[in-house]
Amino acid sequence: MASVNVTVTGAAGQIGYALLFRIASGHLLGPDTKVNLRLLEIPQAVKAAEGTAMELDDSAFPLLSGIEVTDDAKKAFDGANVALLVGARPRTKGMERGDLLEANGGIFKPQGEAINAGAASDIKVLVVGNPANTNALIAQQHAPDVPAARFTAMTRLDHNRAISQLATKLGVSVTEIKKLTIWGNHSATQYPDVFHTDVNGKSAAELVNDEAWLADTFIPTVAKRGAAIIEARGASSAASAANAAIDHIHDWVLGTPAGDWTSMAVPSDGSYGVPEGIISSFPVTTANGEYQIVQGLEINEFSRARIDASVAELVEERDAVRALGLI
Ligand code: NAI
Repeated sequence: MASVNVTVTGAAGQIGYALLFRIASGHLLGPDTKVNLRLLEIPQAVKAAEGTAMELDDSAFPLLSGIEVTDDAKKAFDGANVALLVGARPRTKGMERGDLLEANGGIFKPQGEAINAGAASDIKVLVVGNPANTNALIAQQHAPDVPAARFTAMTRLDHNRAISQLATKLGVSVTEIKKLTIWGNHSATQYPDVFHTDVNGKSAAELVNDEAWLADTFIPTVAKRGAAIIEARGASSAASAANAAIDHIHDWVLGTPAGDWTSMAVPSDGSYGVPEGIISSFPVTTANGEYQIVQGLEINEFSRARIDASVAELVEERDAVRALGLI
């Protein structure tokens, strides 16, 4: 049976705790692939990550072939086939955006370099740690020998949230909703687009038939869901974020179902007027371990303004990290 090296950063954090057990039980890569886990943490959290590794051992997962815990990025990414970059520096009270970007540059630059130095030639990178799109860009820019397209960021949680909200509104099951798209940045400017979404062969936008609901309820509910979870739970989304990370890599490796697509933040090739190189969310299909941006969708005025606003924020973030010398 094939064995795949999966590196997870921030392994002792709350997403890490929800993520690792599902990776080890086979939800990431399916029942025919063994997983060798590499857990990267900062020195202060290595002991906690070792505790999680003990619990993973205690689960006797048939597909888990090994676990290594380290605070050395070079070791963690050596031979990695899949990298889930979850650990990041959160914004603390009074922190300016420049400080936040700089602190994250200090994390994602060396991790990009370590991926460049030692990862396997088929490495696939998912950045979860926020600001995810820009952190992915920083890591990518420090891994010049890795194909740029292998660096992606997570908008799958937003995608899943939008499907759930729309299913509730239309009184259908989540499985009946296909071809929903998150465009842009994983931030409050993201744009969940239902204009190409299919519900049992019918247009979701026509079934909703209420642009005010889209503009004033649906979009803000999806975009601000993270804040609503913090308000309710007293902690940020963790299990749902871990679930979305599993979905992202699972679909990238194993393919999207026929007649559907998913949302991934990937380096733009200029599609839909998104400046080339920006890591922005698009509708994508995947097959044979490669993703393709869905082409040829008609973008109406309602969507255009919102995609442009989110992309403008990404351009600003890129310019800010450039000005700080991080890329
Ligand atoms: P957490 O604070 O519980 O855990 C983060 C972990 O990362 C900590 O254990 C910390 O020691 C570790 N870490 C920090 N710097 C590191 C480094 N250089 N190398 C390795 N590990 C490092 O945070 P949580 O809740 O697990 O969230 C992680 C990140 O995911 C946050 O940035 C959060 O904003 C983001 N997030 C992203 C979502 C998305 O949809 N893209 C959704 C939810 C959270």
